[in-house]
Amino acid sequence: MSHLVSPSLLAADMGNLGNEVSLVNKSLADWIHLDIMDGVFVPNISFGFPVIKAVKRHSEKPLDVHLMIIDPDRYLSHFSSAGANILTVQYEACQHLNRTAAEIHNLGMKAGVAVNPHTPVSLLENILPFIDMVLVMTVNPGFGGQSFISDSYRKIEKLRGMIDSAGYPVLIEVDGGVDCENAASLVNAGADVLVAGNSIFGSKNPTDTIQKLKLF
Ligand code: DX5
Ligand code: ZN
Repeated sequence: MSHLVSPSLLAADMGNLGNEVSLVNKSLADWIHLDIMDGVFVPNISFGFPVIKAVKRHSEKPLDVHLMIIDPDRYLSHFSSAGANILTVQYEACQHLNRTAAEIHNLGMKAGVAVNPHTPVSLLENILPFIDMVLVMTVNPGFGGQSFISDSYRKIEKLRGMIDSAGYPVLIEVDGGVDCENAASLVNAGADVLVAGNSIFGSKNPTDTIQKLKLF
């Protein structure tokens, strides 16, 4: 399988969201990444259900929703109703991940678990059989436009080894500071899905940048 690209709308022009989504629709992007922040788990607040629903109405691509909120169990059904296809919760924000992953599946979505830069992937050993994706945060979550943490390569390689040796059908997504410079190295290290915000929407030609991130 060739890798997937999931543009993060956090860096898009929010006053022009319909056009930004239609740009993604017409591009080689595979998914649309939506970052939900509660101002508690991360020191920032992004957007909520009305925006997700609006994106869903325009999107021809699956919605890849990344929750940076504490105790996400309270809202899983709301994200499903809003149109999420892949729902990712932060490892550090959950008490009972198995229960959370099972509920996400019951609601008809794919289940992802995100790990902060300080969280070792070894902690995921017992949840891997029950999820569809691990999101490796390659910056500290909360803001777009931060610098990629280069130690992430070792982490991705280690996780790739864990997943492949057990034969789990689990994707590895990377998120934070991804651009045309590091994309190939990330895929070589084992990433399946590249999330990119500023490197796409901050570029002169977002459609071309998506193509560059997709084809190499
Ligand atoms: C950060 C978010 C990212 C963010 C990435 O907390 O999870 O998805 O949008 O933005 P860039 O690609 O600009 O680092
Ligand atoms: Zn994200």
